[in-house]
Amino acid sequence: MAVTYEELLDATIQKLEGLKAQGIRNVAVLPETLRALAQPARRPIAESKPAAAARQTALIETPAMAVPVSKPALDPKEKAAAFAALRERVMVCVKCAHLASSRKNVVFGVGNIDAQLMFVGEAPGADEDAQGEPFVGRAGELLTRIIQAMGLQRSDVYIANILKCRPDTPGQSAGNRKPTTDEMATCIPYLHEQIDLIRPRVLVALGATAVEGLLGKTMGIMKLRGNWQTYRGTPLMPTFHPAYLLRNQAMSEKRKVWEDMLAAMEKLGMPISEKQRNYFLRG
Ligand code: URA
Ligand code: URA
Repeated sequence: MAVTYEELLDATIQKLEGLKAQGIRNVAVLPETLRALAQPARRPIAESKPAAAARQTALIETPAMAVPVSKPALDPKEKAAAFAALRERVMVCVKCAHLASSRKNVVFGVGNIDAQLMFVGEAPGADEDAQGEPFVGRAGELLTRIIQAMGLQRSDVYIANILKCRPDTPGQSAGNRKPTTDEMATCIPYLHEQIDLIRPRVLVALGATAVEGLLGKTMGIMKLRGNWQTYRGTPLMPTFHPAYLLRNQAMSEKRKVWEDMLAAMEKLGMPISEKQRNYFLRG
């Protein structure tokens, strides 16, 4: 019996959902399988269901490499056009009716779409909502200083959030609330698309919500920070949210974030000065 491409896709998705439910976050895939998957389907694949199922099992169990970003790289013009088109879609998004009606601006993201380093935060706050740019409030100023301490500018990296709209706080113009699971699930496909297009070499997840959104892990940020994770083949460093550093001014906490940034710099092969190595070390 002929098996259609859609049936194979459904079976694959089902299998992956099953693995995900068991807590498995990465699967091994052969390079040739990835190349085949990147090709558009031209005709139904004639193959028996048991054979197809056996092949999928083999595919998932072959310990070759973690799944990398899903799309092939685009040339610079196509990339810029795809990014602009994505931005246009996001700027008029009304999937969360309550957020679309309470927001002043959609906060899409900012920076270099060819960045090697990408920071992901939680959601816009009041300042970001007002200006339409991520990380421009107090926590944002600290993030900017951290980026500068790395020897970079905001325009060298890319900065985005899990949520593109400020979580509404009815009756309050200040204050923040954590995004709900529903809001995160609705919005995160946009972030996946941003990451797929930018293809950063290193991701930094700022705080527990960013980690949860990108990795599906709810294990505490206190345990995860400083330990390399993988987001679809891209190294991801979880670290504390700058807002946490504003609340907890201890040198030891600043040093932890700074060590995570040094690890990111090392991963990227960036030069690190003696002075940079020693930031936030006591005496
Ligand atoms: N906190 C975030 O997580 N993101 C922003 O853009 C601003 C503050
Ligand atoms: N510079 C800062 O101000 N804070 C950090 O955490 C790192 C560098």
